[in-house]
Amino acid sequence: MKRLIIAIDGPAASGKSTTAKLLAKQLGYLYLDSGAMYRACALAALEQDIAHSDIARLDKLLETIDIRIEYSPDGNKVLLNDIDVTKRIREEDISRLASDISTLGPVREKMVELQRQMGNEGGVIMDGRDIGTVVFPHAELKFFMIASAEERARRRCEELIVKGLEADYETVLKELQERDKQDSTRALAPLKPATDAIEIDTTRLSIEEQVELLYQYVQEKLNKQVK
Ligand code: DC
Repeated sequence: MKRLIIAIDGPAASGKSTTAKLLAKQLGYLYLDSGAMYRACALAALEQDIAHSDIARLDKLLETIDIRIEYSPDGNKVLLNDIDVTKRIREEDISRLASDISTLGPVREKMVELQRQMGNEGGVIMDGRDIGTVVFPHAELKFFMIASAEERARRRCEELIVKGLEADYETVLKELQERDKQDSTRALAPLKPATDAIEIDTTRLSIEEQVELLYQYVQEKLNKQVK
């Protein structure tokens, strides 16, 4: 059976990564989180104290940086120059810095190149902001997941509480709205649905319902390809 490239785009906390992970498991596909790569890149710039305006140092960093996503049954690991940064890149300062650094052309070029190398063989679900529009415009299936900002903030707060971290709803909501605005209004590869993307509004769906819905679309696509 043909192994598809499946693109899932959408704003932060719209349910992309949880759905993508579970769907990948169900299909025996590889799950790749492109946002984690921008996060790792932002962390590398932070550690070396490189300002976003310092294009010369940023170019050097991009030449030498090694970002890898390593499969692990308990959840993929993100390696930055062989160091496991999986947890660190989820912290709030990195969310903001990743959104900032992802506006820069040289950063996007490098990340897109790496993402294409990782996903080209198919049998992959990649989530992000520009997967269906830029990284894999020929992906066989594209989803664009949305949910109200309030619901997304509520989910993000729940995640933080589960991790034992502080969660102030109003702060989280404002942070998400600012990041959405920057991600969708930037000049390069802004967050937007591909013209052939299927929109999934997850506001009132449980995780199980989201996975099931996407799974049905995948089966439909695979059945059509067999005929
Ligand atoms: O999906 P995430 O929240 O982990 O992504 C962090 C930031 O990275 C996001 O605010 C914008 C950027 N990003 C991007 O520009 N393109 C992608 N394909 C994925 C993420």
